[in-house]
Amino acid sequence: MEKSTYVHNAAAAETLAEYYDAPPMAYVHSYGCQQNVNDGEKLEGVLQDVGFGICDSVEQADLILFNTCAVREHAEQRVFGNVGALKKLKEQNPRLIIGVCGCMAQQKQVVDKLRQSYPYVDLVFGVDGIDRLPAMLAERLRRGRRYLEEPAQRNAVVEDIPIRRDSGFRAWLPIMYGCDNFCTYCIVPYVRGRERSREPAAVLAEFRQLVAAGYKEITLLGQNVNSYGKGLADPIDFADLLALLCQTPGDYKVRFMTSHPKDASRKLIDTIAANDHLCKHIHLPVQSGSDRVLQAMNRHYTAKQYLDLIDYAKQTIPGVTFSSDIIVGFPGETEEEFEETLDLVRRVGYMQLFTFIYSKRTGTKAAELPDPYTHADKTARMERLLRTQDEIAFPAVAALAGRTERVLVEACGRTPGTLNGRLDNNLVVEFPGGESLIGQWADVELTGSRAALLLGRKV
Ligand code: SAH
Ligand code: SF4
Ligand code: F3S
Repeated sequence: MEKSTYVHNAAAAETLAEYYDAPPMAYVHSYGCQQNVNDGEKLEGVLQDVGFGICDSVEQADLILFNTCAVREHAEQRVFGNVGALKKLKEQNPRLIIGVCGCMAQQKQVVDKLRQSYPYVDLVFGVDGIDRLPAMLAERLRRGRRYLEEPAQRNAVVEDIPIRRDSGFRAWLPIMYGCDNFCTYCIVPYVRGRERSREPAAVLAEFRQLVAAGYKEITLLGQNVNSYGKGLADPIDFADLLALLCQTPGDYKVRFMTSHPKDASRKLIDTIAANDHLCKHIHLPVQSGSDRVLQAMNRHYTAKQYLDLIDYAKQTIPGVTFSSDIIVGFPGETEEEFEETLDLVRRVGYMQLFTFIYSKRTGTKAAELPDPYTHADKTARMERLLRTQDEIAFPAVAALAGRTERVLVEACGRTPGTLNGRLDNNLVVEFPGGESLIGQWADVELTGSRAALLLGRKV
């Protein structure tokens, strides 16, 4: 593992200043998970650090950067489609720089394809290139040739990278990077490299800065936050880290994702119960309710172990809610095994589910398994899963009517003249109100619901 601290690259800034007549503009788009969104915020911060302005349309941009996700095939196809659409812009403006970075760029076949079939892509680099972006850009401009990095794993932790956060009230805070779990369907360990934790002092310093800057919701990020602390000199685990961070005085809430069930401890649940800053909501991805499938996925827990943990949390944290990720149609998943997933979904009573049809990822173990079921079979199962979930969640959401909840106002609602606020339990309530409330706390009386959306009025 490599540890370092960001340093401003004055030479690169100078090269850029010489190349552009006016201050150049950059457009950065991030796909995929919150970790990647946070990386996108850092890419923007680093670009600002060497003189770029940030814009939100490709037409205005001198540099277009796609920060990509490789988790499912569909995500990759979208990126190739969007990169393809830039060809015209490049023809109109040959000085336009087009870059592709992030998880897709960690795969050799993707870099090869970009090299051969997308000659107008100027810059390709992987997930550990954020701090080196100014140097790579300067290199591209100086040499006038494409700069395409071959995938490599640097497994770095770089502190103090400048960041331009998307929001002034909700922040992402990575506590660790990479993943060592190698779930057999998943590409993340191959593209994100080995698991490594940030020093607690560095996490705490960033956390305090966020609270001091008025952030009201801070979400701690990691592919498996429950294994935080492994390999550090301090004997600290994730529950300890939460307790440490929450000693910071202030009016804020803390969320975290993702918790891997195999490492979720009763200590963690006790910590959530004991601390008012921690949201009473746990995202605990189960993936499947079948022990045979869980084993084939290399998840290291059984449905019973998972349900025992859920039961403990229900007993320990009054009003706790759960959400989960589920994969439908893992290779060889039978009808009976799928029904075990439906049973588990009913047993837990999730408030929210994130559901995915299995997508084959080259290089993973599951990609080699026989897969006798058709896509149509899997789509039909997915529909049943979604129906089952709606039958559970809609009445559970409706049953909250009558309560008054403190919510963080996030955005305008879909209905004109309304706002969306997020409850502690991660549900969203729509209520009448003006835009000036966005980013504030509000007390909202819940009056009813529409599907999984709560409706309310400000009190
Ligand atoms: N580290 C997190 C998940 C990161 S990926 C965890 O372990 O929970 C987010 C979700 O994408 C996963 O939980 C899984 O449900 C889904 N996913 C990952 N690989 C997939 C694949 N090959 N096909 C379909 N879904 C996948
Ligand atoms: Fe992928 Fe599993 Fe790691 Fe999550 S824990 S990122 S699903 S390998
Ligand atoms: Fe996608 Fe990379 Fe996140 S593959 S889900 S952006 S870690």
